[in-house]
Amino acid sequence: MTLEWGMDRNFDNGPPESTASDTKAPGFGEAVPIVASQQTLGFMARRRSASALSLGAPGPTDDEVRALLTIAARVPDHGKLAPWRFILFNGESKARFVARLEAIAAGRVDGGKLHAKLAKLRTPPLTISVISRHVEGEIPEWEQRLSAGAVCMNLVTAAQTMGFGANWITDWYAYDADALALLGVTDGERVAGYVHVGTATEAPLERVRPDVAALTSFWDG
Ligand SMILES: Cc1cc2nc3c(=O)[nH]c(=O)nc-3n(C[C@H](O)[C@H](O)[C@H](O)COP(=O)(O)O)c2cc1C
Repeated sequence: MTLEWGMDRNFDNGPPESTASDTKAPGFGEAVPIVASQQTLGFMARRRSASALSLGAPGPTDDEVRALLTIAARVPDHGKLAPWRFILFNGESKARFVARLEAIAAGRVDGGKLHAKLAKLRTPPLTISVISRHVEGEIPEWEQRLSAGAVCMNLVTAAQTMGFGANWITDWYAYDADALALLGVTDGERVAGYVHVGTATEAPLERVRPDVAALTSFWDG
């Protein structure tokens, strides 16, 4: 499918495509022009998550991780509450976390199944847990949770834009009370996702996509 509807916008005569040096965040109050980007449109039209099990070294460098998190945090956020936070897992710390989850799994009746699921956490070089926080006040909790989801998606998109494979999953350790205690999740917090990042060792195959037209209507009340 080509994005025919995008073609009436004149990308060629617009401002130039972003360059690497444009990745610096604008300063507060700085004008931020809306810039058309055919390249970004093409990227979004073909963007695809990679299986967590296919993600190997190298993962992002420290500078790349900082950039990923900074870009991930550029999301709509009603009330500017930043109702989310990040917990990072790599190397030794990830190995310790996985070992503690294995111990939790071992004590469960379906321990074998839970243990097997941990391969998706163990394999990728970097995992970023996005924790949704709920800040008391007038902004509805629902909107704060949605903002955390937007952070997850921004993270996936930013990582894939950098050329890494990424996958947003939850799995049992996003919901299990013992796993949440291990993670340090407090009252009002929930795991929005574990976003796995690494170098994709194989190209993901396209998955079934929804029929958008069947899910769309014009209100005619
Ligand atoms: C909140 C959330 C939780 C998910 N949890 C899982 C999961 O636990 N296991 C899994 O295999 N996929 C899970 N997925 C789906 C993966 O992200 C999946 O790979 C994704 O549908 C790929 O779609 P894409 O290619 O459009 O990015 C989850 C997705 C979302 C939004």
